[in-house]
Amino acid sequence: MLAAGLSGQSLWPRATAPLRLRDVAAQHGLLVGSAVSNAQLQRPQFSSLLARQASIVVCENDMKWAHVHPEQDRYEFSGGDALLAFATAHGQKLRGHNLCWHEHNPDWLARAATRQNAADLLRQHIAAVAGHFRGQIHSWDVVNEAIDTRSGREDGLRESIWLDLIGPDYLDLAFREAARADPNALLTYNDYDLEQDTPEHERKRQAVLGLLRSLRDRQTPIHALGIQSHLKAEAAPSQWDGLHPFLDRVEDLGLQVFVTELDVDDRALAPDIAERDRRIGELYRDYLANVLRHRPVKAILTWGLTDRDTWLNHSKPRADGLPQRPLPFDTDLHPKPAFAAMRETMSTRRG
Ligand code: XIL
Repeated sequence: MLAAGLSGQSLWPRATAPLRLRDVAAQHGLLVGSAVSNAQLQRPQFSSLLARQASIVVCENDMKWAHVHPEQDRYEFSGGDALLAFATAHGQKLRGHNLCWHEHNPDWLARAATRQNAADLLRQHIAAVAGHFRGQIHSWDVVNEAIDTRSGREDGLRESIWLDLIGPDYLDLAFREAARADPNALLTYNDYDLEQDTPEHERKRQAVLGLLRSLRDRQTPIHALGIQSHLKAEAAPSQWDGLHPFLDRVEDLGLQVFVTELDVDDRALAPDIAERDRRIGELYRDYLANVLRHRPVKAILTWGLTDRDTWLNHSKPRADGLPQRPLPFDTDLHPKPAFAAMRETMSTRRG
């Protein structure tokens, strides 16, 4: 117990006041932070850690359709409002996640939506939600995860309620409505499996580039790409030789890039905690050092701040039943090697 505590503490620099991630990020033109829930905000030690470390936060679930629009004629903004109040009190920016997705939709939507009214339902939702937070949001994930390379479609678009009822125009419609509702927010397309060296990730990168180009060609208002960065710990070190040209092409399109949901799924690693933390820290270091070479990258957010709160324990549990260790702080709020990797890679980014 003592040894684990001490090794965690030793990650803090020797200066009297520990250097905060948000200060290092600010010195290098970056924002840093994580996804949070309101239950987490109620824990005082957690919320003071979040206030110290983060310059940008995002609701893990509270702005998704099912939460914010639980009945057709009722919106529920309390979760988002609470995080906005916290962010405002601590000088943090707030991301909006998300306005249009194939998941986390309320049951009423499937019952109520038809080909005739789906475009209006989507427009009304975006006008209401982005309108409610107008002027307060750094960036909105307007459309989340619209590409599925296994869909069999040439454009790679994912089968979803929106594609089915509106057709491929739903993306333009969503971005245009978001621009009307909150002209100051950076409008973002957000997706996963864009980072690593596998053939599936390469197919996804090409499909996402095709989508971004088509949005640009149609002069759809879009300002940024979110790369979720749910990484997998793997045996071989990554080359990132698909990621670099991909981010160059995204830069050619004039888009900013946000790392929106960074974490590391460690199911492939042996149980030993110190070794897992070391390997995960190395992957954070390697990935961030590579990503931060690209000027359009402006923000780094992890999907949760401490291992206690990771979604991976329910969505991708380890076969041995041990908790996953994907995030920069452990369950006791001690910094891990991933924290040091974030601090050090951000501090070497040329300003
Ligand atoms: C996840 C949340 O973390 C979970 O609590 C929830 O049960 C499911 O959604 N990609 C996204 C996020 O864009 O919204 C997802 O968040 C994780 C994957």
